[in-house]
Order: sequence, then structure tokens, then C-alpha cells
Amino acid sequence: MQLIIDTEHNLALWAADRYERLLAEVPEAVLGLATGSSPLRVYDELAARVAAGTMSFASARAFTLDEYVGLPAGHPGSYRRVIDEDFARRVDFADGAVQGPDGTASDLSEAAAEYERRIVSAGGIDLQILGIGTNGHIAFNEPGSSVHSRTRVEVLSEQTRTDNARFFGGDIDAVPTRCLTQGIGTILEAREIILLAIGANKASAVAAMVEGAPSERVPATALRSHPRVTVLADAAAAAALT
Ligand code: F6R
Repeated sequence: MQLIIDTEHNLALWAADRYERLLAEVPEAVLGLATGSSPLRVYDELAARVAAGTMSFASARAFTLDEYVGLPAGHPGSYRRVIDEDFARRVDFADGAVQGPDGTASDLSEAAAEYERRIVSAGGIDLQILGIGTNGHIAFNEPGSSVHSRTRVEVLSEQTRTDNARFFGGDIDAVPTRCLTQGIGTILEAREIILLAIGANKASAVAAMVEGAPSERVPATALRSHPRVTVLADAAAAAALT
């Protein structure tokens, strides 16, 4: 696990450079996208580079990590809509190139299995971007998730629903209680992973991920077994590292 501590701006440039190199080498790369605050500056930088004509996602495909269960398509809190607004629509992906788990499916187990099949048939994820929850979750794999877990329905922790209430007008009761999430085993199959941790509220999770004993209690510690993970942390998120 490589660790880089820098400003959010410089970390975004570092990540965008990595995307740019990958897409120059493999224009049809398969990308794994995270929703939420952590990757926003990276997405801004990538959108700026596409607008400037220095890079293109036209041949790439992408898979999002997770989705709330039960939010109607187009709901402002739905991760599908959020990733479209924060990133996908701002670059030049082909129609249908960005996919997410279907949290509205009547058979959620089948939707989860189908999502795994789609990732496999795309050839697997070349570069996965992740955030980290204040409780150490990656995607929506809450504490206790197995390192072997696959895409499935997960019950969101009280901590995660509290953290994400900001995307639902501050109302925790409006945050769905369940989600579909890629499993930790699914994420670990990505060929390369970049995890962004920004802000003081991530400091204890970052310290546990980088320095703590690997444990299902801190799902992000599973990343320590992956051969190609770069953690990009700002000074506040890195503050609890020894
Ligand atoms: C988002 C996701 C989550 C977030 C994490 C951090 O698709 O899977 O694991 O990355 O909750 O969220 P932010 O970046 O909003 O602090």
C-alpha cells in the first residue's frame, strides 16, 4: 500500500494524471467509480482535461460501486443520478458506458449477481477509485463484511446513514436503510485501486486502515492484501498516522 499525503488539489492532479496515463495506454479501460465527496476534485480535474481536449473517456466503460435500495430512478439521492451529475455527464462517455447496480430491481439478489456478471464480461475493473467511510467502510461494505464478500444487499449502519444524511437534506430518516454494494472480494479484483481520504473526520479510519491489524471490523484493512493500492490523503485525514 503506497501512501501519498498532500493537498486535496495536488492529490486530485496525481489521480487525474494516473487516469490520463491509463486511458492513453488503454482507451477502452474499465473504470470503477465512487460516489460521494472524496473524488469530487478528481472528477472536476478530469472534466477540465476532457473539456481542454487532452483526454477522452469515449472508449472507456465504468461501473459504480453501490446504490441505495428503493430510491426511484432519478431521485436526487440515487447514486446513479449523483455519479451522472458529478462526473459521467461532464465527460465524453458513450451512451450506456456507465453502469450501476439496480437498487430498484424486484429481485435484488439476481440484480447483484447480474452486476457481477457484467463486470466480469467487461473484463474486470482496471482502475477503481474509492473513498473511505468514517467507520472504515469501502463501498457500502460495513464493519463485519467478509473480505470474500461479493455484490449483495447490505444494511447500512447508523453511522453511514448519519454521515450521508447531508445528501438527503440533513434528514437521517430519508436515508435508505439498505443498499446494493460491490463486495470486498469484488473490489479486490480490480487491477489497481486509488483510495482518496480527505478531511479530519477520516483520520481514525485512515490510521486503522494503514496501521491497524487487518480485521473485518475495519473493512478498508482488506486493501492491505492488494498488490496495487495507492492511498491519497490530505494532512487532516493523515493526522492520526504515527
Ligand atoms: C461511495 C461509497 C462510499 C464512500 C464513503 C466516503 O460510492 O462507496 O464508500 O466512498 O462513504 O464518502 P465521502 O466521500 O462522501 O466522504
